[in-house]
Amino acid sequence: MQVILRQLGDCSISRAGPSDLISVMEINLKTLPEHYSDYFYESLLAELPEAFIVAEIGGKLVGYIMCKTEYGFSNFKKLGFVKKGHVVSIAVLDEYRRKGIGQALVEESINGVKLKKCDEFYLEVRCSNNDAVRLYEKLGFVIRQQLNAYYRDGEDAYLMAIELN
Ligand code: ACO
Ligand code: ZN
Repeated sequence: MQVILRQLGDCSISRAGPSDLISVMEINLKTLPEHYSDYFYESLLAELPEAFIVAEIGGKLVGYIMCKTEYGFSNFKKLGFVKKGHVVSIAVLDEYRRKGIGQALVEESINGVKLKKCDEFYLEVRCSNNDAVRLYEKLGFVIRQQLNAYYRDGEDAYLMAIELN
């Protein structure tokens, strides 16, 4: 872990370092059905450390968010080509939810992608994942599309996005 960005009671929010990746992978395995190779986590940390953020309590990682940047068509402007931040994955361990940690992770990642001059920030979320959809809506993301059978099990995703400028 690196410099603390924000303190939330006993929880510190910081940029991730290489030594955090094993714990991030463990949290991902416990909380989400979408998993990735070790190399993918390493490459996200190498490419966008500004928006790879972890939450730690008493020396234990309890949450993470990791992102990438892309160039592509705007989710807001017709015919606009923009730089976009993309939330690849976010999770907080079950026992530590509803304390504002998820919100702090998203807010700090927004700061990170703004540093990289992204115009927009977007993500996909299962349509049934009410907790996550509410979190994103609270922070100003709006549903821009429904992606048919986006997940391996056939469930649809909402594409949610926010303009950053
Ligand atoms: N019920 C209702 N609203 C909720 C809930 C809930 N269970 N959880 C979050 N929210 C909304 C509320 O508006 C809440 O604000 P409030 O507490 O002031 O009402 C707001 O989100 C912020 O909540 P936090 O406490 O900051 O969120 P938390 O730390 O609990 O983390 C998260 C939310 C990350 C979605 C968590 O539930 C989680 O890890 N879930 C499993 C993994 C997951 O689904 N990740 C998202 C997948 S999509 C993707 O990765 C791009
Ligand atoms: Zn995605």
